[in-house]
Amino acid sequence: MNKDLLLWDQTIFREEQYFELDFLPENLLHRESQIRSLQFSIGPALRGATPLNAYCRGAPGTGKTSAVLKVFEEVENATQKVLPVYINCQVDSTRYAIFAQIFKKLFGYPPPSSGISFKKLFSQIAKHLVEKKRVLIVALDDINYLMMSKEIDDVLYSLLRMHEVQPGAKVGVISILSDMTLDMAKDLSPQVQSVFLPEEIVFPQYSVDEIRDILKYRIKYGFFPNVVSDEVLEKVTQYTCEAGDLRVGINMLKRAGLNAERRASRNVSVEDVEKAYEGSRYVHLNYVVRSLKKEEKMILKCIVDSGKQELMSGELYDCFKEKTNLGYTSFYEMVNRLETLKLVTLSSTGKGTRGQSRIISLPYDPKEIERRIDL
Ligand SMILES: Nc1ncnc2c1ncn2[C@@H]1O[C@H](COP(=O)(O)OP(=O)(O)O)[C@@H](O)[C@H]1O
Ligand SMILES: [Mg+2]
Repeated sequence: MNKDLLLWDQTIFREEQYFELDFLPENLLHRESQIRSLQFSIGPALRGATPLNAYCRGAPGTGKTSAVLKVFEEVENATQKVLPVYINCQVDSTRYAIFAQIFKKLFGYPPPSSGISFKKLFSQIAKHLVEKKRVLIVALDDINYLMMSKEIDDVLYSLLRMHEVQPGAKVGVISILSDMTLDMAKDLSPQVQSVFLPEEIVFPQYSVDEIRDILKYRIKYGFFPNVVSDEVLEKVTQYTCEAGDLRVGINMLKRAGLNAERRASRNVSVEDVEKAYEGSRYVHLNYVVRSLKKEEKMILKCIVDSGKQELMSGELYDCFKEKTNLGYTSFYEMVNRLETLKLVTLSSTGKGTRGQSRIISLPYDPKEIERRIDL
């Protein structure tokens, strides 16, 4: 029998969970300084004092969520006196929903399903924190979802001024934003700005070498030895850089492994990776399209509806203006944002005045984009 073939009940995966997107690895490579900054902000809480607020920003897939969860895990293992609560603002996007999560974490059960007023919910939380001398730290992940619903001021205000209603309450907020072009401070009222004052922690894009390192680590723990060659790793790294999101690479490893198993092979081939990329590249698209504002989706829709893969910026603006009544400056900002999210590619015609003469093209099949924008 050919020993390179896999029997039906054999697998090349040592630990498949290393390729799940919500898997939190033991080591976050190349994020030492960001983790140290987070620890520094939280530090006072460990000594029973009010922590500093923090503001983590960086493109999708730069390890923000993972870094915060890592530090929260450490805090929970170290002490009961600090209560870290992680909120996914896409899921819990109202002040009430967020405080209900805090309540649940604090008491171990959700607030009564018959419903209690926000005021009551708030005061029960605040009282408990003071009585038990616990410091609350709330991470608001993907806080742009609160910016869309305009809940952001109320949420931050209630958290950061808790001590005014309940003297002795100590609260810190870590906000997380996957967008380098949005300025969160601009969206806050002056009253909230004056109490928030966060330490900014920047998560830069990973370099090619860093991406290779991170993927190598997953391969080492996720697959059995010698399943993935250096050549294959190189291919995955290259595609991950192209997509600009580590999620794509991690998902690609899983799919490529499954492709190899389907061929009953003990090794992942370059073709397995290529086939995997066709599916995995949409992991990024799925993830970022959800975070777009309505007007940004309109821009994509204009390109899709034109039936062309690319449009001149002037042509695109005409379509956009008709749908939204917004001016060129807003349009221009949104196009730039779409570019940083790798949803459009910009190039210059070399003619005309700057900005007006750019070509805006879609790096994805327009049908795939259309399927994901609900307008
Ligand atoms: N430094 C790192 N080391 C190992 N895995 C990482 C690292 N940074 C990100 N990842 C992985 O990449 C994926 C995206 O990371 P995540 O923390 O969710 O990014 P973000 O919140 O910035 O979008 C996750 O599966 C995560 O485990
Ligand atoms: Mg995240």
